[in-house]
Amino acid sequence: MNTRGKKKRSDKKNILFVSSEAVPFSKSGGLADVCGALPVALADKGHNVKLVMPRYWCVNKSGRDMKVILGTMGVPMGRETVWCQVIGTRKKGVDFCFIDHEGFFGRAGLYDDGKWEYHDNAERFGFLSKAAVQLCKDLGFKPDIAHCNDWQTAIVPAHLKLKELNNPFFSDTASVFTIHNIGHQGVFPREKYALLDFGEENFTESKFESWGKVHFMKGGIFYADAITTVSPSYAEEILAPYGGAGLTPYLERRSGDITGILNGADYESWDPARDEFIPRKYSVEDMSGKSFCKRVLQERFKLAVDTDIPVIGMVTRLAHQKGLDLLTPVIKDIVRDMKVQFVILGTGEKRMENFLKKLPSEFPGSIGVWIGFDEQRAHLIEAGSDLFLMPSLYEPCGLNQIYSMKYGTLPVVREVGGLKDTVEQYDERQGSGTGFRFNDADPWAVYYTVGWAVSTYYDRRHHFDAMKRRAMKKEFSWEDAAAEYERVYEKAVRRRSSWEKNSFQRGRGNTIF
Ligand code: ADP
Ligand code: GLC
Repeated sequence: MNTRGKKKRSDKKNILFVSSEAVPFSKSGGLADVCGALPVALADKGHNVKLVMPRYWCVNKSGRDMKVILGTMGVPMGRETVWCQVIGTRKKGVDFCFIDHEGFFGRAGLYDDGKWEYHDNAERFGFLSKAAVQLCKDLGFKPDIAHCNDWQTAIVPAHLKLKELNNPFFSDTASVFTIHNIGHQGVFPREKYALLDFGEENFTESKFESWGKVHFMKGGIFYADAITTVSPSYAEEILAPYGGAGLTPYLERRSGDITGILNGADYESWDPARDEFIPRKYSVEDMSGKSFCKRVLQERFKLAVDTDIPVIGMVTRLAHQKGLDLLTPVIKDIVRDMKVQFVILGTGEKRMENFLKKLPSEFPGSIGVWIGFDEQRAHLIEAGSDLFLMPSLYEPCGLNQIYSMKYGTLPVVREVGGLKDTVEQYDERQGSGTGFRFNDADPWAVYYTVGWAVSTYYDRRHHFDAMKRRAMKKEFSWEDAAAEYERVYEKAVRRRSSWEKNSFQRGRGNTIF
């Protein structure tokens, strides 16, 4: 529902949203889905939102709607000024602003060349973060909130506190740092610290230093006025001894300022009743399109075309986080012991790609694999599968299980982070639930839980079908999530206004923050 215009003038905020990726312009994973949708939901609530992101090659610079916003913009980086231009477009009430610097962002990959991480990621994303702040000044856009996301933009709060604290232009700007994935922290060689220009006195263990290196995410955790993460359970997990990937002590110091807000789903893109990528649309009222999609999926992945056999789908980055190592020891047993098919779409670590690539020839007609990033196939798998497997070791939120439910494709998940917060466990006595969960990080837990789901498909079909309908009716709305972000913004504003007062105490030690 569009609530634009209902806001009182005083509640309406100028929001600077900074991200390294956002749909529909660039994407490597769920960060892009969130950063493409949350700003729109905030704009729908009446806020004035500018989203700043890089102009990679995948962003069509000469698109019809693209305009030059700033012909030249000078961004101070260390002792130098780096020049760029800013281009942009307005979409769904949000100003998308692209930092156009060919040297930093004129590349095909967002963070790596397909093999290696770019050697200058500290410079690239340090520059993006500083450029976002500079853009506000050059455009006269006074943000009430600067909302940054993950390590790539984590230095924005520090920049505001250390470089702009006495600038009246930013006197009301509070910062919010959202952690989408604590597994990626932005840690770089010591010498890269100079380009941030934050002073040697701040290269300390509680702020930017970690084992002699410079640590972007730590800076975000220290300086942001409020911290969020993308599900309530993940907020708890990162505060638990081993869940913070080394950052738990620093997060503990900020525990009162951390909020877990569950991501929403953009149902304009991820709803089988409207999905332009799938061969036939369907809805909970008329499911016939789903069997059609299943047949097309089976053909496209060279599987035996038989809609009675349950298809298990996976769409995933092939990264340690996603728990592929729990599946690989048992996938062959699953296919030998159960009458099932697998379709797997993913790209990432070469050892996993190599393992998966061999499976279709070993199990012809039963396992289909596509190595690559492919939007259309991702939608087809959501629509055509019966089950969707996510055996993640950790999962801050996870969007695919949320999408799966809307497509009537029941998730089989490890109960961590957002997976735990979104998927309701099947109860065999009542037939309730929206998916199948397991706890142990053990391949046999994957084997038996897949077995449980498959036996439910064959033997308790009335339960399986009722679960599908229940799952399809679930709504994970961005409107609700945006309302929670609004509350966090208010908290951040309050903390920002007490920063100067507290900075006196901070100067005498780091005990209170
Ligand atoms: P993460 O951000 O950790 O990768 P999420 O579940 O939050 O996990 O989001 C993943 C997003 O990326 C989903 O939109 C999913 O469809 C998409 N995705 C992941 N891998 C691929 C792929 N190989 N091809 C197409 N889309 C993909
Ligand atoms: C990260 C997480 C994923 C989350 C996404 C969007 O990539 O791994 O769980 O859904 O960010 O917040």
